[in-house]
Amino acid sequence: MKKQILVSGLRASSEPHIGNYLGAIKQFIEKQDDYDCYFFIADLHTLTTPFQPEELRKSSWAVLADYIALGLDPKKSTIFLQSQVPQHTELAWIFNCITPVSELQRMTQFKDKASGENIKNINAGLLNYPVLMAADVLLYKGEVVPVGEDQVQHLELSRVIARKFNNAFGKTFPEPKPILNKTAKIMSLSEPTKKMSKTSGSGILLADSPEEIKKKLKKAVTATDAKGKSEGVDNLMRLLKEFGTEGQYEFFQSQLKDNTIQFSHLKDALAEAIANHFAEFREKRAKLLADPEYLAEVLAEGSKKAQSIANKTIEEIKGKIGLL
Ligand code: TRP
Repeated sequence: MKKQILVSGLRASSEPHIGNYLGAIKQFIEKQDDYDCYFFIADLHTLTTPFQPEELRKSSWAVLADYIALGLDPKKSTIFLQSQVPQHTELAWIFNCITPVSELQRMTQFKDKASGENIKNINAGLLNYPVLMAADVLLYKGEVVPVGEDQVQHLELSRVIARKFNNAFGKTFPEPKPILNKTAKIMSLSEPTKKMSKTSGSGILLADSPEEIKKKLKKAVTATDAKGKSEGVDNLMRLLKEFGTEGQYEFFQSQLKDNTIQFSHLKDALAEAIANHFAEFREKRAKLLADPEYLAEVLAEGSKKAQSIANKTIEEIKGKIGLL
C-alpha cells in the first residue's frame, strides 16, 4: 500500500526547546515509519523576523543535528533545507497570486507580530509567511502535517489555497490535515500563562546541560492563585508525566493532593528526569556537530531527493496555469 505523504518543518531560528519537542518533533519521529516523510529546516521563514547571518547559518546546522540526534533517519525520511530547494519559493509566488490579502491579514500570528507600533517594521515576508508554508507542504502533495497548535490556522489556509487552485485549474493538490499532539501545551517556566519559548527563563532547550536544566527549573514559578490553582505547578506536573520515571508522576500527584509536596523536590526530580531523557541526545548531537561533512552530505542527498519531486510538481503546475 502506498504510504501517505507527511511534510513538516521547523524554523531555523529557534534552538528547539522541550515544548517544540513534545508539540512537534516527537511526532515526527513516531511517524517516520508509517508515512512517506519530508522534514525540512524552514530557513526562509526565519528571514521574516530580525536575524543575524552568522546565527542563521549556525542554527541551521544545529537544527539539522537536532533532527538526526533525536532520531530522524535520513535513510527513511527526506531531510533538507528549504532554501536549497528553490521550487518552494517558485510555488509560493504562484500561490501568492491566488491568495486574498485579507486572508493573510486575519492570521493570528501575523496580527500578534504586527500589532501596535510594530506595524511599521513589518515586512511583506511576514504577511506571506503562511503562503510559503502552503507551498512547503503542497509541493510534495503533503496530506498530513504534524504541527503545534499555533500552526493550525496556517494549515487551514493551506487547505484554502489547495482548494482555490484545484477549483481554478483542476484537481491537483490534496487538502493537507494537521496532526496535533495529544500532549497538553507546555507553558513558560517563568510566565506559565504563556507558551514556552526560547526567551531566557521561559524554556528548557533540548541541548541544555543537566546543570542548566536544574538551574532553570529552580526558578520556575509555582505560585498559586486565590483558589489554590497554579498554572506553574500544573505545567511542571505535565512535564513530569512526559519525562518522569515509572510512578513518579503518581507519587507527586498524591503529595499535591494531601498538600505535603515540597516544590524543590518536584523540581529536582523533574530536572533529573529531563536531563536523563536527553542524555543520549546531547552526546549524539555533539558528535554530529563535530562532523560537518556528514551533515553536509545529508543535506545534499536530501535536497536532491526533494528537488526531483518538487520539479515534477512545478512542471505540472506550470502546464496547468499556462506558463510555458
Ligand atoms: N511555521 C512553522 C513553525 O513555526 C514552521 C514551518 C514552515 C512549517 N513551513 C512549514 C510547519 C510547513 C509545517 C509545514 O513551526
